[in-house]
Amino acid sequence: MAQTLAPYEIPLMRQSCQLAAQVLIFIEDYIQPGVSAQKLDKLCHDFIVSHDALPAPLNYKGFPKSVCISINSCICHGAPDATVLKEGDIVNIDVTCIKEGFYGDTSKTFFVGEVSQTAKDLTDCAYQAMRKGIEAIRPKGTTGDIGFAIEKYSTRKGFFPVREIGGHGIGKIFHDEPFVPSYGKKGRGEILQPWSCITVEPMINQNSPDIKEFDIPNSSVKYYHTVDGSLSAQFEHTILIQDESSEKPYEILTLPL
Ligand code: MF3
Ligand code: CO
Ligand code: CO
Repeated sequence: MAQTLAPYEIPLMRQSCQLAAQVLIFIEDYIQPGVSAQKLDKLCHDFIVSHDALPAPLNYKGFPKSVCISINSCICHGAPDATVLKEGDIVNIDVTCIKEGFYGDTSKTFFVGEVSQTAKDLTDCAYQAMRKGIEAIRPKGTTGDIGFAIEKYSTRKGFFPVREIGGHGIGKIFHDEPFVPSYGKKGRGEILQPWSCITVEPMINQNSPDIKEFDIPNSSVKYYHTVDGSLSAQFEHTILIQDESSEKPYEILTLPL
């Protein structure tokens, strides 16, 4: 089960999440044709450390970079390299900060210049699917409630949620229980524990839910592509689950994304 936060820990968790959200705002202006993924990684790294925090991916299970950058057919965990962004690309930047021992995790898919209508539709679907998943959160509800909402929305739009990878508990640990799937049935899965945090981070594929796994040298982290080279999009928020006596069932800690 996910760790629950003591009341004094909630502002600390909020602080780390807000820094991660600020990184996405900061980096947006640099996302232009001609910029390399490794340049964006360095800009994010320097922004995070200058705010007295650490980029969680760096050296995590041997991961070599500070953020994940996943371009077009890359589903997630892209390790930023010399690849240069070009007009028409979609690019997910996934930022996780550690500040005062708490992890804040958020990602957004950006457009590089003008993109195709399909790229816009898929990216919009991933964003709305994340919103639908979040809106299904209730204290003592289940991970299946979230997955059901994501799957229902994205399949109705004609797209395919990835099944093998998903959200997770988070707090003083990067990847905690429960697994938060992008598919499922209402009332199934694990209980959403009041005063714990989870991420909701659906990855939505253009043509099929299937994924191809690749190794990262000297790391146990894998990265993933769509099987046919078609597009994949993703958004991610970190969410605090509140309790039945709270005004709202949850708080999105990584707003404003
Ligand atoms: N931020 C990713 C997530 O949403 C995890 C990245 S782990 C890394 O869970 F090693 F790939 F960086
Ligand atoms: Co993330
Ligand atoms: Co995450």
